[in-house]
Amino acid sequence: MSVDRYAVIGNPVSHSLSPEIHSEFARQTNQDLQYVRIEAPYDGFESAARNFMCQGGCGLSVTAPFKGDACRWVHEIDEYAAESGAVNCISMNGNAIKGFNTDGIGLLRDFFRMNWKTKGLRVLVLGAGGAARGIVGPILRDGGFVTVANRTVQKLAGIESLFPNISTMPMADVRSDWDIVINATSAHLQSAELPVDPQAFKGARCYDLAYSRNGTTPFTALTGQCDAKEVHDGLGMLVFQAACAFKVWRGIDPDAVSVLEHLRGQ
Ligand code: ATR
Repeated sequence: MSVDRYAVIGNPVSHSLSPEIHSEFARQTNQDLQYVRIEAPYDGFESAARNFMCQGGCGLSVTAPFKGDACRWVHEIDEYAAESGAVNCISMNGNAIKGFNTDGIGLLRDFFRMNWKTKGLRVLVLGAGGAARGIVGPILRDGGFVTVANRTVQKLAGIESLFPNISTMPMADVRSDWDIVINATSAHLQSAELPVDPQAFKGARCYDLAYSRNGTTPFTALTGQCDAKEVHDGLGMLVFQAACAFKVWRGIDPDAVSVLEHLRGQ
């Protein structure tokens, strides 16, 4: 029998550590599977996903910029995908295509690991795309007060209509006084700088959804120069959201913390 096949789909996707993470989960839990990267053209999510499925694919991890496309393509969605309009995990079982969003759970599990709390605190989310939409609901339910700041103001209306309890502002207007600042933009993918005053990070715990093996990203470097209270990249979130996806696909909870330590070379 052929081996079960999974993939991460995005553009760009060559930087993704998801294949390594899922291979580690599979090794740990004695699962026989193959996990590859698919780089789809910006307007080619649906045909790339369909091709993969027709070739026997069992599931996809979805990354930028396709989380919204994925949500529109699947037949059924879980509650987190429904509230955010963003899907980061797809299971394919025969003709049944189901979408999930495990980003918010992944983020809160990493916050829990670091002993970061959001209840009653002012949380600034930079970005209003699929990644941002996936984390806002879980933070609100956890008791955080969320403000979303985006470069393009037109996109703010969309996220505000999904989450009426948030505040919004143009990114260029952001000033200081935040407990937690989360970078959910894809600026790093174009090596672009954020149009934000670095004073915004003063005294705040700063978290980047982008990640690297050694924990340094353009955003962590920027916040590190600006009197932030604590700074972390998103490798922990990546591993925790992947663990949720693995549970969806294989029905087994892998040990995410040991894989995170492995990736950090600890
Ligand atoms: P993802 O799934 O990663 O959220 P996306 O839905 O394409 O990808 O959204 C990308 C987000 O990053 C958007 O909020 C985008 O801002 P705009 O709406 O203004 O385009 C933000 N972004 C991308 N490059 C950026 C940059 N250089 N500065 C600030 N924000 C940026």
